Amino acid sequence: MIACVCNAITEDEVRAVAQKGARTTEQAYAALGCEPQCGSCLCYTQELIDEELKARPRPNLRAVA
Ligand code: FES
Repeated sequence: MIACVCNAITEDEVRAVAQKGARTTEQAYAALGCEPQCGSCLCYTQELIDEELKARPRPNLRAVA
């Protein structure tokens, strides 16, 4: 499904760059070689990024200590 119409960016593309380290929409769009245009997608793409961050397992700090 398309996440950003202006740049033809899909949800899967946003999720993929989030998994590779993008934390903001600007970082995600830059990683995809574009930048926001109209801005109407920014809240939604940030939600996608946040979902990917939540899905990541947190480090077990007790194992480190
Ligand atoms: S829909 Fe993403 S910048 Fe316009």
